[in-house]
Order: sequence, then C-alpha cells, then structure tokens
Amino acid sequence: MFKNDFPYFQNSKTIYLDNGATTQKPKSVIDSQVEYYEQYCSNTHRSNFGHANKATQEFEKVRTLLKEFINASAKEEIIFTKGVTESLNFIASSFAKDFKTVIISSLEHHSNIVPWHMQGRTLGNGLEVVNCNENLDFDMTHFEELLKANANAFVSITHISNAFGKIHDMEAITKLAHSYGAVVMCDGAQSLAHLKVDIQKLDVDFFAISGHKTFGPTGVGAIYIKEKYLKDIKPYQTGGATIHEVDFNGSTLLDSPYKFEAGTQNIAGVIGFGKALEYINHVRYENIENLEHKVFKYLDEELAKLPDIVFYNDISNTIGSRSFNFKGIVHDDIGILLDKMGVALRVGHHCAQPIMKKLGIKGTIRVSTAFYNDYVDVDKLIEALKRALIMLKG
Ligand code: ALA
Repeated sequence: MFKNDFPYFQNSKTIYLDNGATTQKPKSVIDSQVEYYEQYCSNTHRSNFGHANKATQEFEKVRTLLKEFINASAKEEIIFTKGVTESLNFIASSFAKDFKTVIISSLEHHSNIVPWHMQGRTLGNGLEVVNCNENLDFDMTHFEELLKANANAFVSITHISNAFGKIHDMEAITKLAHSYGAVVMCDGAQSLAHLKVDIQKLDVDFFAISGHKTFGPTGVGAIYIKEKYLKDIKPYQTGGATIHEVDFNGSTLLDSPYKFEAGTQNIAGVIGFGKALEYINHVRYENIENLEHKVFKYLDEELAKLPDIVFYNDISNTIGSRSFNFKGIVHDDIGILLDKMGVALRVGHHCAQPIMKKLGIKGTIRVSTAFYNDYVDVDKLIEALKRALIMLKG
C-alpha cells in the first residue's frame, strides 16, 4: 500500500528488488527538489538575503532532524557528506590513519576495505579481519583475540552486510571494543532503510549514513562523530565556509560541523533527505520492520522451494538482502533474463569481493527488499526465476 507514495511505482511496472543499491523516493522527496530549485535556489551559510536565509534554514533543519532521528547528543555531531563512501574515507584519512591497527569484519563493502589499503595496510600488516562462521555470523571470540593482541585499535564494521543482509550486533561489538580501548566506526549504509538506529544505544564513535539508500536523493549522506572527538579531528578537505579567519600566513577554522563541510553542499539533496526522514517518521519504524520482516520471510520460504538453490546463510539476524546461486547456473545469466521479464535485482560481487572469494564464488544473485515490497513482488520474482531456470537448464 505504501507504493502509492512512490511515483516510480506509478510510472513503472518493474518489480524493483534492488533496494540495497538504491531505494525509490517518495513524492515528498522529489517535490522538495523541484521546490528548492524553482522557488528559493540560493547558497547556504553565505549570503544574507531572503532566499539564501531560507535555504540555510531548511538545510540546518535537516541537521536537527537527523540528530533527533538517530538520537545523537548534539547537532554538531552531524556532518553532511556525499554519502557513506565519503564518510568512511573522511574518517579513514583523518582520524583513523595513524592507528597502528584497523579491525574490520569479513563482510565489508569495498568502501570499508580499499581506503585502508590506500594507507598501505594489508592483512596482518595494520589490517585485521574478524572471521565469520559458516552462517556468516561475526565471530566474537576471534574479535576479542584481535582486540587483545592489538591494543587501542580502530574498529570499522558494517552494520548490515549489503551482500548478505547479515546484521552485526553493533551494541555488543562496540561494548567489547571499548573495553579494550578501541574506537568504533560503523558503516550504516544499509541500516536506516530497515531498522531504527539509536546512537546512544549502539554507542559507536562514528556512524556513516546514506541518503539515497534511505529513500532520499543520491549524492547525500552524513557522518555522525561523537562529540568528544569533534575538536581534535582535522578536516580532510577545506575551503570556503570552513574558516573563521584567513590571511596569507594561515587560517583558523570554524567549529564542527562547518569546518568539515567544505565547498557548496548538496543543498537540494540534504533538504530532500530531510523529507525522506520525515516520511519514515510518518510511516514509523514499527511498520517498516513488521512489513519487511514478513515479506522477507516469505521470500526466503519461496526461494527455498526452487530446485538447486544454494544459500550462504539462513535468515537469522538478516534483513534487506538475500543472496543465492543455482547449481550449474551463471548468476549473470539470471540477471539478464530477469531484466527482460521486468524484475530488477543485482547479480555479481556486490562490491564485496573478499567474502565472495572466501566462499569460493564469483558472485551471487541478490534480491534486496524495502518495506514497500509485497508478497506479489515475491510471487512475480519466483515466477520469473522459474522461467529463467527452464530456459537455462532446458
Ligand atoms: N552498495 C550498493 C549495493 O550494495 C551500491 O548495491
């Protein structure tokens, strides 16, 4: 029923199951983009005329909204970025770069692997990876061994695996990490579309947020930085609007968040992201979680009936993404055929090559859901998969 709020579903008959890549946008988000560009397009935090002031107000309203949305302590802890990739790269290349050891999980997206490689870190040489078991569950015992062996490490873990949907227990991970003096960053790219995030409860030190995977526009996201780190963290880029005073001898910077937000921001994007958050508040997480869990379970049950299907995890502690293969079938072929049948999903390594290699596969077929997907979407997917299997197997 919520599909009516999303113009995409009125304009397209596509069975959209690629929400891990990006979610659809409610009309209020789309309208806010047009409204900004048509009615008060101006830069923020600079000029002092009516429309510029309105743009600044609307932009800053979203900072407060996001602060409340994730239950951060202060709005200064919310820094806008162009997305999770930028958020992770920012912290990796500033605050975290001097840590002797960085600990990540086996299920990380390349965005939380490649930035560490760029610092010259390799496995066992400044970079450690926590094992997962056969069901892709995070190995807490191994994590503790790594924390013990590497005092004061920087821990950077994805909240929900984009490839397999596995939810990491960030509350427990952070508690353990802090007890060994480690600092924790969480890649929350897949989180806000599926579950309520309470920063006070998770107690992470950094939390990376995506706008476009949370029903907002592309090119916008944020990084939450715990207040106690704000003063000491150096921006990784500077420029207009980040400074207090500049002469040819030096510059003094503003406080957070402004010292971190160099250059003209994605103003329309931030405003649209605010509308996406308001939309979630209107739908309520209780409904989002209920609806999605029911459909996700049905998806799993129906997929399991297909011949020769191979899963890599069960659906315990899992949401959003269900990854699988069929014995003897190349995943790319399924992607091509399903596209022809009007079903959108992602096939491949999902920017998570290391876990694919560990599993001895090149990639998977990934169905990624959002709360607006329904049983009919699952039925149409299953029908399309059955037809594709007949074509490929004869
Ligand atoms: N990270 C996005 C995905 O999982 C693009 O598809």
